[in-house]
This record gives sequence, structure tokens and C-alpha cells, in this order.
Amino acid sequence: MIFGRVKPLDAILATAEKKSLHRSLGAFQLTMLGIGAVIGTGIFVLTAEAAQKAGPGMLLSFIIAGVVCALAALCYSEMSSMVPVSGSAYTYSYAVMGELVAWMVGWALILEYAIAAGAVSVGWSGYVVGLIENAFHIDIPNALVRGPSDGGIVNLPAMGIAGLVTWLLVIGTKESAAVNAVLVTIKVAALTLFCVLALPVINMEHFTPFMPLGFGGVSAAAASIFFAYVGFDAVSTAAEETKNPQRNMPIGLIGSLGICTLFYLLVASGVIGSVGATPVTGPSGEALAPGSAELASQCSAIGEAAVVCSKEALAWTLREIGWPQVGNLIGLAAGLALPSVILMMMFGQTRIFFVMSRDGLLPAVLSKVHPKFHTPHVITVLTGIFVALFSAFFPVGVLADISNSGTLFAFAMVAIAVMVLRRTDPDRHRPFRTPAVNIIAPIAAIGCAYLFYSLSLYTKALFFGWAVVGFFVYFFYSRGHSHVGRGIIDVHEDDKDAPPLPVPPIT
Ligand code: ALA
Repeated sequence: MIFGRVKPLDAILATAEKKSLHRSLGAFQLTMLGIGAVIGTGIFVLTAEAAQKAGPGMLLSFIIAGVVCALAALCYSEMSSMVPVSGSAYTYSYAVMGELVAWMVGWALILEYAIAAGAVSVGWSGYVVGLIENAFHIDIPNALVRGPSDGGIVNLPAMGIAGLVTWLLVIGTKESAAVNAVLVTIKVAALTLFCVLALPVINMEHFTPFMPLGFGGVSAAAASIFFAYVGFDAVSTAAEETKNPQRNMPIGLIGSLGICTLFYLLVASGVIGSVGATPVTGPSGEALAPGSAELASQCSAIGEAAVVCSKEALAWTLREIGWPQVGNLIGLAAGLALPSVILMMMFGQTRIFFVMSRDGLLPAVLSKVHPKFHTPHVITVLTGIFVALFSAFFPVGVLADISNSGTLFAFAMVAIAVMVLRRTDPDRHRPFRTPAVNIIAPIAAIGCAYLFYSLSLYTKALFFGWAVVGFFVYFFYSRGHSHVGRGIIDVHEDDKDAPPLPVPPIT
């Protein structure tokens, strides 16, 4: 019975029980934590990709992706408040749906975290290169700052930032709450400044036709722009440190996602209204995929004179409407703030690997902790190498879509786990209960499935290919080495051997 290997919830909870973290976070801190973790490459860079897929209809895409995320977030919170231990969706699935599902979720989370870190590295590179080129009038050859399908050979700055963040994680760098607060302020200030300058010069004619590529384009853009909302799990995983979680969790989650959605809609309206967001089409009027060689060559044919061609959509827009210096400032803000998103993502990856290795599903060497720095250095360096390679050779949109495929799978599994556990273990204490769970959880799962379906064929094929590889690894290695399978139920006194969160919440 392949679904029979369940890690008993009580054993998992024994891990957390002794932790008894101080409940200190209120709704405001949670909201700030969410905004800090969520705003990143999605809005700064992928706005251009969304415009190429949906035109002005990307406004609808932002709303659809935000709603799916909010519903998934409510389900996530119920699980994370009940099972407040490392490993998030992987651990929840282990308790509820068994080892094979947990393994597949953990395997998919590799896509979520490692590939997302690659995507944000590429986004960072676009802004920093644009800043250097515009502020210092230096022309950097595309060959060195873009991947092969994007008109270049290798993205060296993206590799560099991935390497730098890896090194910071190995030596155990943690952002102080103050640094985190400053970075949130920088991001919010940059987006506000953009809105203040772009919204007054809106031309309503740029909003028609609203959906040049039909509703299919809007759905495809929603599936990509979903990336802009990823990261809220930082809020869900703070459930055990939250005062009155039943009240404060939904405020923190819905509040941060609501504020981000509002910002995203205003910023996207500013882009569409000021410079237009018409997709660039091929010679015979066909839609071109973002990140494709065809789009790159069409863009260079028109002298990169469209926002959808830009690697730094917001800075480009400001330069177009006569604010070149402010455009550079936005570039500087992105350059300063995005590395912390990369840090969060890579950290998330090492933590998942760490827990999977501690459960015996991955080799024990991966959870080796450095004697001096007390960090899981082996897995951090390995993750860093892969992140650097992805970011060197792939365009940001392709990476974001692949990351979304893994995230959507994991979110759907969490929504299902919530429903299953309500039936199999109805009396267990739930510090936070998803409201109207019989409506919210199924819609969350269906919403994730719809967004997954709206991803490109290429992305879905890659996801399934990755899943097949995962299946083989499970049956040829993990199943035989599993601690649960061998009758060892790990009960860790506390989670002190797991690396701590590098970004503390703002207090
Ligand atoms: N939501 C994060 C971003 O947009 C991952 O960069």
C-alpha cells in the first residue's frame, strides 16, 4: 500500500511542542512580513511578460492570481498553525497523505524554491544592468548579461548574485529586523513613486483593446504573474508566533495579499496607461512567447521600443515618460531589495532538503551542518550551484513559470490535506481554522489546477518530466532509506538542528 506510510501527526507535533515560541506577532507585523516576502521580481520584471501575454487584460490576470493565492493562503494557515514545524507543505502531506505524496510535494518544492531563486536572480540582473547602462552610459554586451534564448550567451550578473547569496547563507548571515524593515520600505517607496509619476499621464486609449489575445491570454498571464504573490508562506509559517492566530492570521494574509494586489493593479495600470502594453507580434501577426528567441529578435528589430521587450519594465517606463533619473532610482531600489527575496527562496530550499534528508528520503550527507558556521553548508552550496546555472542560461519568465508549476502543485496538495484532515481528525486543536472550509479549500485546489493548466505546454511537460524523475528516485533510493519505512519515527526534541529563519519579522 503505497499511501500507507504516514508519519504520525503526534510524532511530528512532538517536534514542535517543546519549542513553545513566544506568541508576539500581531496583525500589523504579519502584514509587513508578508509584504516583505512577496514583492519582488513579479511586479518589477514580470509585468512585461504579463503584458506580452495579455495586453491591458493583465489587470484581470493580477486579480485572478491574487484571489487563488489568498484562498490557498487560508488553507496553508490552518495546516501551519496545526503543524508548526519545518518543511511546510512537505511535512503536512507526510502526516495526511503519506510518504509518496509528501515526497512528490517536496520534489515539487525544489522547483518552487530553487527555480524561483534563479528567476529573481535574473530579474535582479536586468535591473542592475539597466541601471549601470543608463546611469554611467556604459554599453554592456547582451552576450554577457542574457541567456541563450534571450539574445545572449550567459547571464553573468545573475550567476554572481546567486553565488553571493549562497556564500551569505553558508556563513549564516541573517537579516536583522531593521534591515528587513528598510528593504520593505524601499520596495514600497519605489512602487509608490512609480505610481505617483505614471498614473497622472495615463491615456485611456491604451486600455483598448483590453484583451488583444483573448481570455486565453489573460489566463496564461495569470499563471505567470502568480509568481508575484509567492512568498506569503512566510506569514503562514509564523502562525505559532502569532497572538490570537484565529483573528490575526487572516488579517495578516489577506491584508498583505490585498495590499500587494492593490499596488500591483496600480503599477500595472501605470505601465499600460502611460506607455501602452500592446503585445509585440511576429511578421504575420502571431503572438510571440515571452523569453523566446523570436520575441528577442522582433524586439531588436523595433529597437526595443516596447515595454514588453524590457528587462526592467518599471525603470524603462519612467525613462520613456521623461523621468530617467527616477527610473535609475527604481533600478537601484530593485538592486538593493531583490537579493533578500533570493535569500528567502534559497533558504526555503535548504530547509526543505534538510528536513527530507533528516527523514532519510535524501542522503544524510545533505543535512550535514558546518562545524563553525552551524549552517547546512553541503546542501546550501549544491543549491547555489544549481540556482547559478539556471539563472545563467534561462530567461526570467521561463524560470518563473517552472517555479509556479511546483508551487501550484504544492498549494493544491495543502488545500486537499486540509479537507482530508478535517474528516480524519476532526477534533484535533486547530489554532486557526480556514473559514467556510468546504467552499474555500475546493475552490483553492481548483484555482491552482486552473492556473497550472494555463501554463505553457513546455512548462507542464517539464513539470511532468521532473515528477517522473522524482518517482524513480523515490522507488530506487528514498523508499528503501526512509526512516518511517524502517520503523524509525524521528522525534526531535526541538527544531534546533534545523537552520533558523534568516529574515526575522518586523516588530
Ligand atoms: N513574489 C516574489 C517575487 O515576485 C517571489 O519576486
